[in-house]
Amino acid sequence: MRLDKLVSHVTGLTRKEARALIKDGRIRAGGALVRDAAFHVTPDVAVTLDGEPLGDAGPRYFMLHKPQGVISATHDGEHMTVLNLLDEPHVEKLHIAGRLDIDTTGLVLITDDGAWSHRITHPGRGCRKVYRVWVERDIDPALIDVFAKGVMLHNEKHPTLPAELVLLGGNECLLVLQEGRHHQVKRMFASVDNRVTRLHRERIGDIVLDPELEPGEYRPLTPEEIASVR
Ligand code: URA
Repeated sequence: MRLDKLVSHVTGLTRKEARALIKDGRIRAGGALVRDAAFHVTPDVAVTLDGEPLGDAGPRYFMLHKPQGVISATHDGEHMTVLNLLDEPHVEKLHIAGRLDIDTTGLVLITDDGAWSHRITHPGRGCRKVYRVWVERDIDPALIDVFAKGVMLHNEKHPTLPAELVLLGGNECLLVLQEGRHHQVKRMFASVDNRVTRLHRERIGDIVLDPELEPGEYRPLTPEEIASVR
């Protein structure tokens, strides 16, 4: 069977999405990295996604309330990482579905299910992320239209996708993004000559940061939360 067909079949992703995973170097067959979607796999060959056997039972899903000063990375020589906050076996098998900057707080989703996290992070999926933002100067209501139309960020070829801005008064707002470019919220406000002073992610898709979780705490996702990412 073709590799892209097998990956699509086992994960439930479309063929196109399966090809993207293969191209990104996340798929191995028989231990070897394969970037050719047409590669022929036989049933005796073990296929893995991000190191995890495809079709293996028991994927894990967590939400964590990220505090400031913690890095959204799996390893860092200098700072505490999000994975250091988890008291779980084989944390090295887990990855983060959508990183936050070191000074951003809030909702981080962690899993070993690469297909699931792909549905959150792939821009074509339009998974909405809600950020609470505080900026240096009061927000001009005209910015609602500007962000809804999309802004051109420095060194980018395409404007941002339509984003929803909800004014909360003064220098505070909610910003709803359907993509996750590098430092996107900070760069969007910089493009209109304002500066983010505090940033907190409240929600990803239908998954809301549990108010019971203090910064640094985490819990497994409920079956409903897991299933909400389609
Ligand atoms: N946008 C940013 O600028 N930083 C984050 O951490 C997340 C979104």
